[in-house]
Amino acid sequence: MTAKPVSHSRTTLTELMIPSYANFGGKIHGGILLSLMDKVAYACAAKHAGQYCVTVSVDGVNFKQPVEVGELVSLLASVNYVGRTSLVVGIKVIAENVKFGTVKHTNTSYFTMVAKDDDDRPTEVPPLLLETTDDVRRFLEAMERKHLRAAYSEGFDKARTRLLLEENVDKLTSERCQITDELRNELP
Ligand SMILES: CC(C)(COP(=O)(O)OP(=O)(O)OC[C@H]1O[C@@H](n2cnc3c(N)ncnc32)[C@H](O)[C@@H]1OP(=O)(O)O)[C@@H](O)C(=O)NCCC(=O)NCCS
Repeated sequence: MTAKPVSHSRTTLTELMIPSYANFGGKIHGGILLSLMDKVAYACAAKHAGQYCVTVSVDGVNFKQPVEVGELVSLLASVNYVGRTSLVVGIKVIAENVKFGTVKHTNTSYFTMVAKDDDDRPTEVPPLLLETTDDVRRFLEAMERKHLRAAYSEGFDKARTRLLLEENVDKLTSERCQITDELRNELP
């Protein structure tokens, strides 16, 4: 397969934040931004893959600052990494107040997408042609996150399935929770 450059699939989506996107506090719902991120990730991944793609996982969604009604949100997406059938799309989200000329960086997140063939099976994607030092840095960083993620997932699964109540229930004493008297009698 011929490698495709990052520039081939770089995608920007800009959308005006309208009142119906806001929560009761007047700020934009995080879910609206997530939906836009999913959309731009799809567009970027599908352009690179030349195939239909699905979202498999999302990393690094931490909204650092609220987005307001009336701001223009731009999502800048590029393929950071490709595996055999998967791609990592990095998305930088910025919100612009055109009246005051201010721009804030709300978050940078990473969507892992997988290309699917007509039978819904994962299918190979073209290699990525790295043309700039930023392309190289992003590819290496995605490799590092992949390793960290694998270690985290293993720990997370163990914590979910193997945590024994009798060995851990004391940890709750310093937390902001209460156990009912009835339940306390049942616990080991
Ligand atoms: C993701 C999916 C295709 C994996 O299928 P699978 O039969 O396990 O296929 P594979 O094991 O060959 O994995 C395919 C690729 O996905 C990657 N992958 C699978 N699970 C992953 C995860 N949780 N996080 C990151 N990558 C993952 C694999 O590393 C592999 O990448 P590679 O080919 O580049 O090495 C399958 O689970 C799926 O279709 N999920 C539903 C996705 C979807 O519909 N999303 C929309 C939301 S409703």
